[in-house]
Amino acid sequence: MNQYSKRRHSVFDSLQGNAAVILFSGKAPMRSADEAYDFSVDRNFYYLTGLDKEDMVLLMYRLDGTEHETLFIPPYDETMARWVGGRMLAEEATNISEIKSVEDRGDLDDSIASLLNRSRKDPAFTMYFDFWHYEKDQPLTAAHNYAAGLRVNYPGLNLKDIYPTLTGMRLIKDEYEISCIRKAIHTTNLGIMQMMRTAKPGINEMTMEGVFNFVLAQSLCKRNAFHTIAASGERATILHYQDNDQIMNDGELFLCDLGATNDYYCADISRTFPINGVFTPRQREIYEIVLKAQKIVEDNAKAGVKLKELNQLVVDFYKEELPKHGLDKDVTEYYFHSVSHHLGLDTHDVDGGLGSMLQAGNVITNEPGLYIADEGIGIRIEDDLLIYESGCEVLSHEIIKDPDDIERYMNKGQ
Ligand code: GLY
Ligand code: MN
Ligand code: MN
Repeated sequence: MNQYSKRRHSVFDSLQGNAAVILFSGKAPMRSADEAYDFSVDRNFYYLTGLDKEDMVLLMYRLDGTEHETLFIPPYDETMARWVGGRMLAEEATNISEIKSVEDRGDLDDSIASLLNRSRKDPAFTMYFDFWHYEKDQPLTAAHNYAAGLRVNYPGLNLKDIYPTLTGMRLIKDEYEISCIRKAIHTTNLGIMQMMRTAKPGINEMTMEGVFNFVLAQSLCKRNAFHTIAASGERATILHYQDNDQIMNDGELFLCDLGATNDYYCADISRTFPINGVFTPRQREIYEIVLKAQKIVEDNAKAGVKLKELNQLVVDFYKEELPKHGLDKDVTEYYFHSVSHHLGLDTHDVDGGLGSMLQAGNVITNEPGLYIADEGIGIRIEDDLLIYESGCEVLSHEIIKDPDDIERYMNKGQ
């Protein structure tokens, strides 16, 4: 039984009585004319199937003690095969997912109608959808739309959200998932090292981003974990700077926040280094404060601790430390984000909320920063941590961050 089968078993185990779960792989929204945005598979669908193709549907249900799983996939289309490549065949979908029953996507409605007809005698029959959405006014997902249709046609039907169940599962990473994150981090390191070797005054931030992407391509990494932040000088004080198009100046710092992926699992790493290869005394002074904040989180991250407690440790440390360095405004002037989030199939992965306790097997980030706009200094150092019962492992330990190591590496051979 492969990992996807095992996960679907766990989902079945979580269901009470007669019930169904329906998940959609999603479809890329149209962008302009006949061009669509890049497709990005629904991560919960992927988590349960290992399939990353558009417009597929997973239906799992238990009725009268028997469990069934069916995949609905778009039919093979000869013309499309010649234009953009062949769609996935049923056998391939079965090989990856271990779901034996594969039907035509167009037959979904009839199958659901038949299932609801057969389940009529059980008023407790419940259909589970992934009802998660990030923003209230975002376009409705396939799950919301499909459920809305069922509400009209089957007014008494029980509809519930499977998202919390899947969140609970995804929070705890198994060995395979951790190995994927390790590989993604390793590729990210190769990219950062190449950026450090490339950095010099006069080049554009865009070149740095391009260098990172080139290394990812060389490593056969198909996608970035998220939009790369390549920020020099005062742009590094903008938390999620996106433009990446300014000239990098002598004497300034460069902040990169980026990640490779491996089998959709993300790395999320930030490093800050001097564009000319040597920190100024002031840059080094601030850098070392951030490094100390990071160490505090590292020393305290373990099962039973809450993310908001880790963040509070950083805030408390900054409150005491920053005034000693002439930074006497409120801490929120210099540090205005949280120190950590979960990491996995999504960069900002599923979580139980800031108040929930860490558990062994969680992977989280450790990313304190300091942003001093009037000095043009923005520093963030971000590592990825695997949580154990009694501590944590820095998965990204290979990526240099000690200021001496950075200077030595950047000036090697000069
Ligand atoms: N790269 C986004 C973040 O660090 O959360
Ligand atoms: Mn990041
Ligand atoms: Mn992060």
